Amino acid sequence: MSAQGNVLWFTGLSGSGKTTTAAFVRNELLAQSRRVELLDGDELRQTICKGLGFTREERMENIKRIVYVAGLLAKHGVDVLVSAITPYAEMREYAREKLPGYMEIFVQCPLDECERRDVKGLYAKARRGELNHFTGISDPYDIPLNPDITICTASASLEQNNAVILARLGYK
Ligand code: ADX
Repeated sequence: MSAQGNVLWFTGLSGSGKTTTAAFVRNELLAQSRRVELLDGDELRQTICKGLGFTREERMENIKRIVYVAGLLAKHGVDVLVSAITPYAEMREYAREKLPGYMEIFVQCPLDECERRDVKGLYAKARRGELNHFTGISDPYDIPLNPDITICTASASLEQNNAVILARLGYK
């Protein structure tokens, strides 16, 4: 049987750089011929989490489904990277409790920088009142108190953040 995989759980505001960083790390791990899968919140919300909205209950359901899939993959030795806002401390506690290889990566980026980037134009919509429950604007983001790793995407490069994560994993 393969060893338990790691679950690298990237949490942070929308536009903080979770998916960009996770995809970079994924490519590095693939280049080392490791078995790896990236579960991206935006993508999952088009498939197994389709129809779920952004109330506290729906977000919790979203995270529970992601935890379930991540657990199945990790059990078979796959390193799983999850990119989802995961705004509430309760969700991260749930994931940590359910997933043996859980490692929390807080993708830190000031709200005003995420808003300046506004990659998907959602902050502007939220400010105009066209989106309810928008994380950081009209819905909370509980700052992680005990992340395993904190990276900052406003002051460090992708390569630097990748190196920090791989070193922490004990990979080169
Ligand atoms: S989570 O809160 O349940 O962890 P998830 O990461 O899956 O969120 O989805 C967040 C993505 O949904 C954002 O990156 C953004 O593209 C989109 N989105 C749409 N509406 C909202 C909202 N109200 N709050 C946060 N993200 C939203």
